[in-house]
Amino acid sequence: MTISIALTKGRLENETIKILERVGYGIDELKDKGRKLVFKDTKKDLKYFLVKAADSITYVEHGVADIGVVGKDTLLESDKGYFEVLDLNLGKCKFIVASLPEVNLFEKIGHVKIGTKYPKVAKEYFKKRGMDVEIIKIEGSVELAPILGLCDGIVDIMETGTTLKENGLIVLDDICNISARVIVNKASFKMKGKEIREFLSNIKKGIS
Ligand code: PRP
Repeated sequence: MTISIALTKGRLENETIKILERVGYGIDELKDKGRKLVFKDTKKDLKYFLVKAADSITYVEHGVADIGVVGKDTLLESDKGYFEVLDLNLGKCKFIVASLPEVNLFEKIGHVKIGTKYPKVAKEYFKKRGMDVEIIKIEGSVELAPILGLCDGIVDIMETGTTLKENGLIVLDDICNISARVIVNKASFKMKGKEIREFLSNIKKGIS
């Protein structure tokens, strides 16, 4: 039975491919792929495709992909219609709350506005802190929003911290650590259990 694997394009892509290579799943096409999106490993009966993180979850939830590799940041925004089975220990970064130094949004009296690409994570964080904030969804370059006065602070991912620093923002709190995870379609886990377990146990050997 062929196992279909949805890989996340972009930041996680190369690191994921390196793990696959380390454990003998490398296929040359994946390294020199041009604009191609689907790759077959006929010897191992595997099929890979490259998609955006959130779409990887959608493909897995609908059973079009048996397995997906997705960042925990994207998983935390989703509704968990899958099994999360493995931490790949790559793509490591963290969720943070940040603002301009002169704005301490935890002490601000009155309406607090938070800009973020991650409304669910932000909402849950401030709910836990007992703060009722307005969440403003932003699609990218979130650091710009407090500078232009759209919001008081942001909830975003930080990897090196360079983007925050270069835009004069400071971290007010860490929310949680993030890394790439492997997710599996619930039905596939039953129907193709043997093949999936074998794939996962091989992948585990490649995690550093
Ligand atoms: C992410 C995140 C920050 C930046 C953090 O954005 O939203 O902006 O990376 O990385 P750093 O701590 O290493 O500077 P991304 O580059 O994914 O894209 P975006 O700006 O379109 O949101």
